[in-house]
Amino acid sequence: MTTILVTGGAGYIGSHAAVELLESGYEIVVIDNLSNSSMESIKRIKEIAGKNFPFYECDLLDVECVENVFNTHKIDSVMHFAGLKAVGESVTIPLKYYQNNITGTINLCEVMIKHNIKKLVFSSSATVYGNPDKVPVEESFSLSATNPYGRTKLMIEYILQDLYFADSSWRIALLRYFNPIGAHESGKIGENPNGIPNNLMPYISQVAIGKMEKLFVFGNDYETHDGTGVRDFIHVVDLVKGHLKALEYLENHEGVEAFNLGTGKGYSVLDLVKTFEDVTSKRIPYKIVERRKGDIGVCYANPQKAEKKLGWRAEKDLNDMCKDTWNWQLNNPNGYRN
Ligand code: NAD
Ligand code: WQD
Repeated sequence: MTTILVTGGAGYIGSHAAVELLESGYEIVVIDNLSNSSMESIKRIKEIAGKNFPFYECDLLDVECVENVFNTHKIDSVMHFAGLKAVGESVTIPLKYYQNNITGTINLCEVMIKHNIKKLVFSSSATVYGNPDKVPVEESFSLSATNPYGRTKLMIEYILQDLYFADSSWRIALLRYFNPIGAHESGKIGENPNGIPNNLMPYISQVAIGKMEKLFVFGNDYETHDGTGVRDFIHVVDLVKGHLKALEYLENHEGVEAFNLGTGKGYSVLDLVKTFEDVTSKRIPYKIVERRKGDIGVCYANPQKAEKKLGWRAEKDLNDMCKDTWNWQLNNPNGYRN
């Protein structure tokens, strides 16, 4: 039986990965410090999969705690989701982001080395492409970052490359996510932001449920078909399926490799609003305001490398993403705090 350690497994993407792993026959061990999540999501993962697994409330900054998990379980590979992800907050408190994301990853790798575990799937981000010169974005494009959060992802990618240069038995997949949205079709797990959502989809669904009065659309003067920003929205369940394909790939391939996980299609902010309205029959009032500082106009993936090498492609469309987000929001108007 193959056992996967899932760091950050109580969070939005990690919880969906946990379900997918359990349903595919893997054993899992989950660690999370619950800094941006709750025990309720752990309970829901068990409900959906109908399986139990060990959970540790453990901070990656606490090496002793991480050691204990590796001493207790025979881990084969690690999916590493744990990290802080709020771009704006990372500008205000950069050291917290460098400490948590970078030191946390270094601690994890140290313990993995000690236990001779060298297979790692890492949550990177399309943010490592900075402001790309052209689209669709390919893995070979130059890398840069425009904020401390993005720099933590970029630095971790370099750190993991260096690990492999020093010891070629490492097998590492750097998965560069585009814009994950949607939720598990059961409506039991989904994205659960604290306070006012930073990201577009949770904001739209909170307008729909009546928690926010209207959406503020950040700029309509980009060079796009309707002037609003264009992104590659990807269903979270498709995204986590890509992780299982990456895990299989690492069985037969040494080295460090980056893969774009996106659909290859770009939709604008107003496209998403319209699709959400059509699918849910809810009206989303909005107001056009100034551009958000640091935003880019257009970003979507060329996902061909993942298709060719991992045998993975996104299956779900924008309608599915809106339908599943709304199902989660309707069933859990207060997220996990019901
Ligand atoms: P999330 O905040 O829902 O999940 C991250 C989880 O990690 C949380 O449960 C949090 O409590 C936990 N965590 C944070 N620091 C920890 C630490 N030091 N020790 C133990 N646990 C810790 O975020 P998510 O959207 O599920 O993102 C998962 C990963 O994917 C993150 O690394 C994020 O940067 C990356 N990512 C997310 C997006 C996105 O749009 N959601 C896009 C690209 C990349
Ligand atoms: C999408 C579009 C906004 C909110 C961020 C991070 C990135 C990655 C994914 C982790 C943009 C517009 C948004 C709102 C709006 N995370 N918008 N009103 O900025 O593409 O990416 O999340 O790695 O690093 O930067 O996603 O959902 O915030 O914005 O008009 O209230 O929606 O301007 O065009 P983004 P987003």
